[in-house]
Amino acid sequence: MPDPKAVNSMFARIAGRYDVANHLLSGGLDFQWRRRLVRRVRDARPNRVLDLATGSGDVVFALADGLPPSVTLMGMDFCQPMLDEAVRKQARNPAWSRIEFRQGDGLALPLPDSCFDVVTVSFGLRNMADRPRALREMRRVLRPGGSLFVLEFSQPEFWFRPFYYTYLRFVLPAVAAVVTGDRSAYEYLGGSIEQFPERDAMTAEIRRAGFGEVESLSLTFGVVALHQARL
Ligand SMILES: C[S@@+](CC[C@H](N)C(=O)[O-])C[C@H]1O[C@@H](n2cnc3c(N)ncnc32)[C@H](O)[C@@H]1O
Repeated sequence: MPDPKAVNSMFARIAGRYDVANHLLSGGLDFQWRRRLVRRVRDARPNRVLDLATGSGDVVFALADGLPPSVTLMGMDFCQPMLDEAVRKQARNPAWSRIEFRQGDGLALPLPDSCFDVVTVSFGLRNMADRPRALREMRRVLRPGGSLFVLEFSQPEFWFRPFYYTYLRFVLPAVAAVVTGDRSAYEYLGGSIEQFPERDAMTAEIRRAGFGEVESLSLTFGVVALHQARL
């Protein structure tokens, strides 16, 4: 499991270049993955949404664009420089002013029980030091009948794995070194992606955290999985 201090300082180092690297290294697919998430969240008809591990805010901004204006949104992350990026971007669009950004650790959320209809976590769970505990915290802040959405890398279909793992091991750190100046951060990220559970194993992990019905969707040949879990 990742060391939280190292993860926090790594994201602090790359915060200013995170978005550019993200769009470039995913070949722009991150926009498509977020759109799929927003569509699913909209179908859940929430009133209050928490985007955990919000980072520089792209997911919570997409949610603000795709959900009715009456929906309250909060973005939470434990890395202040990533949140600073989110707040800087928020100033560009008045429609995003309804988002509240707060610093907080996914392993001990500074939030009361049962206060959100939906919790989303995108490409963040993989970086948390204790996944079962993080999932239990997400369950705690959800109201009964609420939904958790986990958008995360997964293990792709077998035929695609040789290309994908070659990309993760060699291409991703090399390109990231040029874009962010921090090759080691992306060597860690590539490694963490390869070690992350497959889709069915993730479903089982979410169930063990106390969720009932769990549904999963494979995106881009299984490179990414979207899990929806109901309480
Ligand atoms: C890869 S970024 C994802 C950011 C954003 N969700 C996105 O999709 O672009 C992972 C984020 O998880 C955050 N994170 C990692 N561990 C965390 C924890 N224990 N509590 C809160 N945030 C955490 C990091 O600070 C980082 O901003």
